[in-house]
Amino acid sequence: MGRNLLLNMADNGFQVTGYDKDPKMLKKLEEDGKAHDLKGFASLEDFIQSLELPRRVMLLVPAGPIVDSVIQELVPLLSKGDMIIDSGNSHFTDTSRRADELSKQGIHFFGMGISGGEEGARFGPSMMPGGDKQAYNAVKPILEAVSAKVNGDPCVTYIGPGASGHFVKMVHNGIEYAMMQVLAETYALLKHSLGYSNEQIYATFDKWNNGRLKSFLLEVTKDIFKVKDPKTGNLLLDMIKDEAKSKGTGKWTSQVSMDLQLPIPTINEAVSTRDLSKFKSLRIALSKALPHQGEAIDHKEAFEVQLEQALYFAMITSYAQGLHLLEAASAEYKYELNLKEISQIWRGGCIIRAELLEDIYQAYKKNPELPHLFSDESIQQKLKDIIPGTRHVVITAIAHGIAIPCYASALTYYDSLRTANSPLNLTQAQRDFFGAHTFERIDEEGIFHADWNSTN
Ligand code: 6PG
Repeated sequence: MGRNLLLNMADNGFQVTGYDKDPKMLKKLEEDGKAHDLKGFASLEDFIQSLELPRRVMLLVPAGPIVDSVIQELVPLLSKGDMIIDSGNSHFTDTSRRADELSKQGIHFFGMGISGGEEGARFGPSMMPGGDKQAYNAVKPILEAVSAKVNGDPCVTYIGPGASGHFVKMVHNGIEYAMMQVLAETYALLKHSLGYSNEQIYATFDKWNNGRLKSFLLEVTKDIFKVKDPKTGNLLLDMIKDEAKSKGTGKWTSQVSMDLQLPIPTINEAVSTRDLSKFKSLRIALSKALPHQGEAIDHKEAFEVQLEQALYFAMITSYAQGLHLLEAASAEYKYELNLKEISQIWRGGCIIRAELLEDIYQAYKKNPELPHLFSDESIQQKLKDIIPGTRHVVITAIAHGIAIPCYASALTYYDSLRTANSPLNLTQAQRDFFGAHTFERIDEEGIFHADWNSTN
């Protein structure tokens, strides 16, 4: 990824150099960057000497202790006013700590999420830099030039102070987890409820990707249904074990949402479902002990139409939850996040880019103070159109015994949010009954406690 980003910068006319401990990677960098005379160094000292002042050093190393050890090696070689940009998926609390430690030494530290994978790095990623605003100006022209563009707008913006860049990238990944899980559930429904072959699933995803669901994730998902396994000749997907791994950004998003008491249930379900998938032998045993008799769907065409609506609904809900979390985090951590700009830079280059982000961007452009994505009128119109179909999909999946944790949670989240009078008055009464935790009344200000045993 680092090599690709350097090549992208060189293509855009910037003079850049690279450092890698691995001589093979250096050779490849120089070969690929021949046209621009791109230099690679095996010695950190030589690399640092090659940079003009103030130095701008970008790290692309795995998140965790490696980032700290690279910083430790770098710092003695740097001067006051130089800048380090950590472009990995670091946890935002690590980024805060590193920024504080380095600012004491006069070094600017930026946490910058980059999305788009290797291809994105080479031809235009979406980038989320956070840190000192003035220092940002030293890299702004480079980042804007190399980023993806949508309608001429660069898919990079100054996100905010502190670790806001890594925070926003983490939530981007949480949304990514939810959308991936919803696509997996859609695959299960097409395969098991409709009995579609892999070819039919490809054709369905292809058709949908030409409409309002158009997105990077649907596009790659569709293509997966074309790739054959060279070893067996079967579809490669059919040869892959159904135990999902993860590197942690989804889990961190869920953890933070619990800390901030800002619910993102669809993202949480996506994280839990990956974890549940690891219990393969238990799943096999229970599938035999507790089998379910599925029923055939007789209105296949209608169900396919409803499934497209449900997928659109789940996508809207995944973004809505992520953006709601960003708003809460912005207030708590003083990140000054601008959701209009964040949805703008997610429209291109990143893994969650989708046609729908244009509507989300327009919603925040119209009202930067939007309390929730569901509060926007044009989003509300979409919701009204797709909710009946979504309900049918969820009911059918549940009747068929097909696990659809993200679809079900997205619909329940929607129903909870549009419930003016929830049953949680009962929760408050229970808390006061057994623990004297008090309650508020609907007809009078103040805090109350009742003697529940004597009240009848
Ligand atoms: C991106 C991706 C990228 C990566 C995730 C995968 O925006 O380019 O999100 O960061 O694909 O780290 O995360 P998991 O390994 O946890 O699925």
